[in-house]
Amino acid sequence: MIPGFRTPPIPTRLHTDAMDDCCAAPDTEGYDEVFDDRFARKTARRYRRKGLTPAEQRIVAFLSSTGLDDATVLEVGGGVGEIQLELLARGAARTVNLELSGAYETEAARLIDEAGVAGRITRRLGVDLAATPERVDVADIVVLHRVVCCYPDVEHLLGAAADRARRAIVFSHPPRTRVRRARVAVDNFMHRLSRKSYRGFVHEPAAMLDTLRRHGFEPRYRHTDRTWCIVGALRE
Ligand SMILES: C[S@@+](CC[C@H](N)C(=O)[O-])C[C@H]1O[C@@H](n2cnc3c(N)ncnc32)[C@H](O)[C@@H]1O
Repeated sequence: MIPGFRTPPIPTRLHTDAMDDCCAAPDTEGYDEVFDDRFARKTARRYRRKGLTPAEQRIVAFLSSTGLDDATVLEVGGGVGEIQLELLARGAARTVNLELSGAYETEAARLIDEAGVAGRITRRLGVDLAATPERVDVADIVVLHRVVCCYPDVEHLLGAAADRARRAIVFSHPPRTRVRRARVAVDNFMHRLSRKSYRGFVHEPAAMLDTLRRHGFEPRYRHTDRTWCIVGALRE
């Protein structure tokens, strides 16, 4: 438990699009089943105890090097929103978080309250950027951390993300190694056995870079290790 911990208010800008527009609401059940309350609590606890992970630190460092002052940020699949909190602390003006799992909101609200940034973060549930890009405003910076590996149509997702980015886009993806592909195949088999609709993906890295280029971005930063590859790209 965090010292001085308080029951959080609901963030002032929580916006549940799926509730507004029930007929067009995407099926988010697959994400809720895997990215559930437990996953959200674990992520928030880790962030409170240890701060950003090495991959998240690299993402924030790349974006800081491109200039954050007064920047607007769109994060797709931002979970509890720890990257956004750090970008706000480094000068970003405001952020929008898109999520397809509703499990993060309690933890996200607590973190927002603790950081004192309510009013600078808008959380939108149930908007799939790839399916309905017109529902999402353009931002200076777009972030997708550990998201493309959860989404089947990476070309549409990354293409839509790039089209929503004025200046910079950064995303992470798992390395396409034999070991990682085997692990994802086993995980997917387990999901199938337990009748979960969620599936993981290890997309082709070169194809993802091509998508960014086709949408006007040139990769300027690349980091690869055993767990995550990070690509930072700037608009040409
Ligand atoms: C592995 S989790 C990562 C969450 C967070 N970025 C983190 O690193 O803790 C992937 C998240 O992406 C979300 N997601 C996948 N596709 C999405 C999409 N098209 N739009 C919004 N969120 C999406 C899922 O709901 C899930 O919560």
